[in-house]
Amino acid sequence: MAVEWNSYLSVGVERIDDQHKEIFRQVNGFIDAINQGNGTTQVLEVLTFLTNYTVTHFHDEEEIMEETDYPRTEPHRKEHEKFCQDVLALTNQIEVKGVNKVSVLQTSHTMVNWLIQHIMNTDKALADHMRSIRQ
Ligand SMILES: [Fe+2]
Repeated sequence: MAVEWNSYLSVGVERIDDQHKEIFRQVNGFIDAINQGNGTTQVLEVLTFLTNYTVTHFHDEEEIMEETDYPRTEPHRKEHEKFCQDVLALTNQIEVKGVNKVSVLQTSHTMVNWLIQHIMNTDKALADHMRSIRQ
């Protein structure tokens, strides 16, 4: 199953949208790697790449929040932290137990749902704030 970035996920800030599109591309790459039955080492490589990219993206957003005195920085940052913890737990699970296709795919879909919710609510609110201070 492919997870597509759709225009309804656009927050209206090109830089953030581009990073979200890349995250979706990488999540697809990860799901493909699982579905193709790639070994633990390869799967972990793809997941590490995805994790690093996502952490950089979160950092970018958090910098914007600080620079713009965003009042909802803390709850937003906490959501990022939660996602990072979940990805770390998934990495540990794969490291310890190897790739259990069903369980890894289930976790991946939970992560995708989290991403969609986060973008639709939390990131859109940040984008609204960015637009409001530009006016
Ligand atoms: Fe965010």
